[in-house]
Amino acid sequence: MGAALGASRARVVAERRSPLGGAEAAAFAALLERRRLREPVAYLLGEREFWSLDLAVDGRVLVPRPETERLVEVALETIQRAPTLPGARPWRVADVGTGSGAVAIAIAASAPPGSRGLVVATDRSRDALLVARANVERHRGECHWPVLAVRADLLSAMAPASLDLVVSNPPYLSPSEMASLAPELRFEPAGALAGGDDDGLGVVRSLVGQAASVLVPGGFLAFEIGAGQGAAALGLFGPETWRDPAIVRDIEGRDRVVVARRDPLA
Ligand SMILES: C[S@@+](CC[C@H](N)C(=O)[O-])C[C@H]1O[C@@H](n2cnc3c(N)ncnc32)[C@H](O)[C@@H]1O
Repeated sequence: MGAALGASRARVVAERRSPLGGAEAAAFAALLERRRLREPVAYLLGEREFWSLDLAVDGRVLVPRPETERLVEVALETIQRAPTLPGARPWRVADVGTGSGAVAIAIAASAPPGSRGLVVATDRSRDALLVARANVERHRGECHWPVLAVRADLLSAMAPASLDLVVSNPPYLSPSEMASLAPELRFEPAGALAGGDDDGLGVVRSLVGQAASVLVPGGFLAFEIGAGQGAAALGLFGPETWRDPAIVRDIEGRDRVVVARRDPLA
């Protein structure tokens, strides 16, 4: 109702007995009808809050999920452990599959004071990048580090050993999960959901393979997974390249984020 009236929640409550004008009633009915067809509320409003940032969202991008904030926490903890890198060089971070830009902007906005860095936000969807760029622009003033949105397939645009941290919330749904999606998810871009391979980890496999070469020795990789994918995801890290692969659980105790470090000597 607030969206239909262009009014705050408080005003809607305060004026709940006022009759609606014809145009207002029509706008509200149109929103109700879209919701009846199970379109996500975030798309109806064109906004979703993530990491206390209001982000513009529409059908070109995934609606950022609260559980993805765990990935942001892991990234920030990693940076916090070494806010200053050897030689005082800036942190070079990539957010792969940035969608609305949620993860990249959250990291840049909450980077530790005094730290220096840059976040490159990549997506292979041109449409998604337009949304990401608009959100980067909107939050430029809150970001301590610059965010650059670049169209690329995974990490293909990155030079060898050029990144200190790769984060990603990649698509990871399996074909069987894609076949039984909740109605709301059918409004989201299929390319943001379908992970490829029978277990949904196709994109993740490519990501781990590419990260092994674009990370500096000792650099970090952190990505989101589905709750049932922890064991399979840990199996992707060969001991000749990776150190300390581990699962981080979300607030509900489900496997949510995988972290690993490129062998400092590899
Ligand atoms: C699950 S969504 C995540 C969006 C955003 N990071 C978030 O957490 O809300 C995955 C994103 O990855 C992008 N994507 C899928 N495959 C990709 C690829 N091979 N290279 C780059 N981006 C890809 C999709 O377009 C989509 O925007």
